[in-house]
Amino acid sequence: MRVKQINESVWSVGAIDWKRRMFDEIVPLPDGTSYNSYLINGSEKTALIDTVDPHMEKDLLDNLKDLEVNKIDYIISNHAEQDHSGSIPIILEMFPESKVVTNEKCKNMLIDLLPIDEERFIVIQDRETISLGDKTLEFIFAPWVHWPETMFTYLREDKILFTCDFLGSHLATSELYADFDDFKIYEDAKLYYVEIMMPYRRFFIKALELVEDLKPGIIAPSHGPVYDKPEYIINLHKKWVSDEVKNEVLLFWVSMHGSTKEMVDYLEKELIKRKINVRKFDLASSDAARLTMSLVDAATLVLATPAVLGGAHPAAVYAAYLTGILKPKIKFASIIASYSWGSKIVDQLKGLMNNPKWEILDPVLSKGAAKEETYKDLERLAAEIETKHRSEGLL
Ligand code: FEO
Repeated sequence: MRVKQINESVWSVGAIDWKRRMFDEIVPLPDGTSYNSYLINGSEKTALIDTVDPHMEKDLLDNLKDLEVNKIDYIISNHAEQDHSGSIPIILEMFPESKVVTNEKCKNMLIDLLPIDEERFIVIQDRETISLGDKTLEFIFAPWVHWPETMFTYLREDKILFTCDFLGSHLATSELYADFDDFKIYEDAKLYYVEIMMPYRRFFIKALELVEDLKPGIIAPSHGPVYDKPEYIINLHKKWVSDEVKNEVLLFWVSMHGSTKEMVDYLEKELIKRKINVRKFDLASSDAARLTMSLVDAATLVLATPAVLGGAHPAAVYAAYLTGILKPKIKFASIIASYSWGSKIVDQLKGLMNNPKWEILDPVLSKGAAKEETYKDLERLAAEIETKHRSEGLL
């Protein structure tokens, strides 16, 4: 039996996806993931909070069978994305009396994405409640964490907050509760934050305030372990989502014949000399998850690339695009490039990073291998970064 009991009325009945290594074919999942679904047995009604990715619907059905569930009245859909909603149709089929309870936006998205008849829905408003008899479910709209329709469901009597994607982590584990002594909890929660939530920082802060106001005893997300000490995960996210940055420069680089690498190595030494911390990632071989995670706290990003057919190397193009869409709280950015003839690298990468909040420091370009003036330019860039970090109180 894979089900896990949270209390006398609430069970975790979702699926553990040990093997999955990519999400949406873009997000690395080094430790797999889970699709959590929760069964709540009230004295009169039974509710299922979210379902599982459709490729694992058998696990959900087996878990319900193990618990001898013969009636589901409400399927609560906190979020329309298919990793949580994809098994709603099979649950509706297995439990013909059941209704999908969600907000108007989510209902419309579910109808677009899945074969669900409109008459199977109950539409609720923000802060509306439904009774399960001795239990009350309250629905709390929390848009844009990370789709426009996202909401939380609060089991009032038991103080359990079901947050779906919010505060989750991509971690496959058979443990019900997060073990905060396990470094994986920290790493997987941070990676998940940067990949899924960081682009919506403004909305994330509002949602975090909603959670703090509720003071839940347990936070039960729909990916990764449940938190029975909510303050730990809330405080971590408060730090990540804050405007606070570290005295750190990320050097994302790729080199074909060594010229760009030489420039990057020189800048690294100049930065360290100025007491600025550096993290270097070779775009040709770095672990994508660690590179992505590094974006959460650093003050400055320098992207270094050789020219390929007049533009940036494809690995640098990818890094610039990824950085642009993830919208980290980086404050300063610059570009280093070597080229042999005409180059549109700077305009191309600036366009892809496309973040009006970043101050772009003058790039350093070298025609061919680095020369004396190139090293001077790199010293100028290091000095400018030092000044900027001082102005932010980081040094
Ligand atoms: Fe876990 Fe936005 O789906």
